[in-house]
Amino acid sequence: MILVTGGLGYIGSHTIVELIKNNYEVVVVDNLSNSKREVIDKLKKITGKDIPVYINDLCDKKALRQIFQDNIIDSVIHFAGFKAVGESVEKPLMYYRNNIDSTLTLLEVMEEFNCFNIIFSSSATVYGSPKSLPIKEDFPLSTTNPYGSTKLFIEQILKDLYTSNNKFNITILRYFNPIGADESGLIGEDPRGIPNNLMPYIVKVATGELEILSVFGDDYDTVDGTGVRDYIHVTDLARGHVLSLKNQNGLRIYNLGTGHGTSVLELVNTFEKVNNIKINKKIVPRRPGDIAECFASCDKAFKELGFKAEKTIEDMCRDAYNYVKNNE
Ligand SMILES: NC(=O)c1ccc[n+]([C@@H]2O[C@H](COP(=O)([O-])OP(=O)(O)OC[C@H]3O[C@@H](n4cnc5c(N)ncnc54)[C@H](O)[C@@H]3O)[C@@H](O)[C@H]2O)c1
Repeated sequence: MILVTGGLGYIGSHTIVELIKNNYEVVVVDNLSNSKREVIDKLKKITGKDIPVYINDLCDKKALRQIFQDNIIDSVIHFAGFKAVGESVEKPLMYYRNNIDSTLTLLEVMEEFNCFNIIFSSSATVYGSPKSLPIKEDFPLSTTNPYGSTKLFIEQILKDLYTSNNKFNITILRYFNPIGADESGLIGEDPRGIPNNLMPYIVKVATGELEILSVFGDDYDTVDGTGVRDYIHVTDLARGHVLSLKNQNGLRIYNLGTGHGTSVLELVNTFEKVNNIKINKKIVPRRPGDIAECFASCDKAFKELGFKAEKTIEDMCRDAYNYVKNNE
């Protein structure tokens, strides 16, 4: 059985769909701090399976022990954590407490129950401002905000744990920019308040919830002056977790992206075209801390896991909007 922490959230819920397609049994723990209980029913609709869900905080060791007592857990996929960069700058202690405490508690309980297999959600943010592109897994690591630091610290904790006990199989996945939604339109990205990231913002302008999209800078040294990122469809990302699960062996680190960059304006134009809708936008000054361009080298994940993203930017734009229209 696979324990999915944060399984009611955006990436976790899509990964559960892929796990069940691949005949894995799944149990979920989530404290609903950034997700809704109704995802449980939606997952049942998509998969046809009743998935056991524990509504608990991962920092609650007693509750976590109970989950390991009730279920025979072979592997953990650890998504739970806070993820908003801006909020982490305002509330660093909350971020350090939640992301690091929950991970330490999880790892301690895993050791106690002889469960030695874990896949961890890291982020391309650990590469800081890369000196060259595409970004490879052995590039130097640094961060510019508390959220990124929690990812970097947890990576270090996992590496130290592996050194101390190499019974562990630890896979660190560094995600680039997941967007899009399950093609059923039942699950997707549902950010609270004003989103930090581009696609949720575009979608909110499309639905009329926000008036206008601010494009932060059009004077970068990129194809059209706007920032370039490596967007990956969340369903492709989810498949990457299933492949990682099938290939657990020692300490492994992989980028999960597409290997291609897309600019802000290219993404907006594609969104307009596939959804036949106009997005109001204005150019505003650069946002401090943003880098011009970022995309992954995905060679390692391809060679060692057989991972290759399949969905297009068109798919990502269509599915993201479809989810929001379905759930308005
Ligand atoms: N979405 C992205 O762009 C992105 C990029 C890189 C890395 N990541 C990482 O991937 C992981 C999943 O991201 P997501 O986009 O699905 O986020 P999400 O917020 O949608 O999902 C995280 C889930 O974890 C739960 N959670 C948080 N703290 C918890 C705790 N202490 N105990 C139990 N449950 C808890 C939340 O309720 C939520 O359902 C996160 O660790 C995130 O940092 C995300």
